[in-house]
Amino acid sequence: MKKYFQSLAYITFVIVTSFAIIKAITAYENPFSLYENPLVWIAITALITVVLLKELVNIIALKKAENLQLEKDGINPEEIDHWAWVKSLVKKWTQAKAVEEEEEIILDHNYDGIQELDNSLPPWWLYMFYATIVFGVVYLVKYHMLNGDNQTVEYQKEVAIAKRELEAFRATSKDAVIDMETITALTDESSLNRGKAVFNLNCAACHQKDGGGGIGPNLTDKYWILGGGIKNIFKTIAKGGRDGKGMVAWEKTLKPADVHKVASYVVSLQGTTPAKAKEPQGDLYEEESSDAAENKEEKAEEVIENSDNTNTEETSTTKTK
Ligand code: HEC
Repeated sequence: MKKYFQSLAYITFVIVTSFAIIKAITAYENPFSLYENPLVWIAITALITVVLLKELVNIIALKKAENLQLEKDGINPEEIDHWAWVKSLVKKWTQAKAVEEEEEIILDHNYDGIQELDNSLPPWWLYMFYATIVFGVVYLVKYHMLNGDNQTVEYQKEVAIAKRELEAFRATSKDAVIDMETITALTDESSLNRGKAVFNLNCAACHQKDGGGGIGPNLTDKYWILGGGIKNIFKTIAKGGRDGKGMVAWEKTLKPADVHKVASYVVSLQGTTPAKAKEPQGDLYEEESSDAAENKEEKAEEVIENSDNTNTEETSTTKTK
């Protein structure tokens, strides 16, 4: 009777817990997140533990019954070698002579007391050796006789595939990878507004809201430590400044599109007059295209006119080619 209740309790537990787990997994959004749904993990662990324990108890009981039976038949269970099958397997796979039998295979030479055994090659080693021969033949035929792709060709093929995939991705994705060759500064208002928001949140602490500079350099002047223009600025923001200077690689925290927007915003700060401008650092940077430089001059004047207005949404931006 006691056994019957035990089994009933066990079966009920397994069924109810499994049901609850399935229910939880289908209902929760992130069922396997330990922080969000620790109960799921507790239930799974409990279920596995109970099932394993029950099996363990079963095995122990079976073993006991077996031993009792053996004793009944007059055999001492301790005399049975439980590992006999392992030993025979090892022997078969190594074919080594037992230490006691080594006398039989010892060779005649005696090099200052160092003697040699004529053991046969262990099968595990021998089969591996055969496998290398087969591999060698297959390799020879495939790559040297049938001219299979070597690493260089494989590499070129993979690059071609990746390029095609990237193009497909660029054509369909809004948040596309930015091509450093053809990057231009964004000038539309919504991009610059986004750039400004990203700047105020992440960059203003070191560069000031108006870009005047503090811990980081002034971003409104024509002098750049790491190079001006959208390409260099994008690169600095994405990859960071020189080691140990404090400007980290923002590509780890910002999406490429946001780096593009904040870089465009930084470009748009060019020539504005910040409240407290840090002295210029780095070298004078000249735009490659002359009309872009002209634009900048114009813009600088425009901004000086309403110099207390640091709201750059209204100022026009320079478009670099
Ligand atoms: C912890 C302070 C800190 C923060 C935050 C920070 N910067 Fe910088 N930034 C620096 C320092 C310091 C340098 C100079 C790096 C160097 O000398 O190599 C720098 C350099 C730069 C430069 C290059 C300036 C030049 O003269 O070449 C740009 C552009 C720039 N930061 C933009 C940004 C943008 C955009 C953000 C926000 C996404 C940002 N920074 C956030 C400290 C900071």
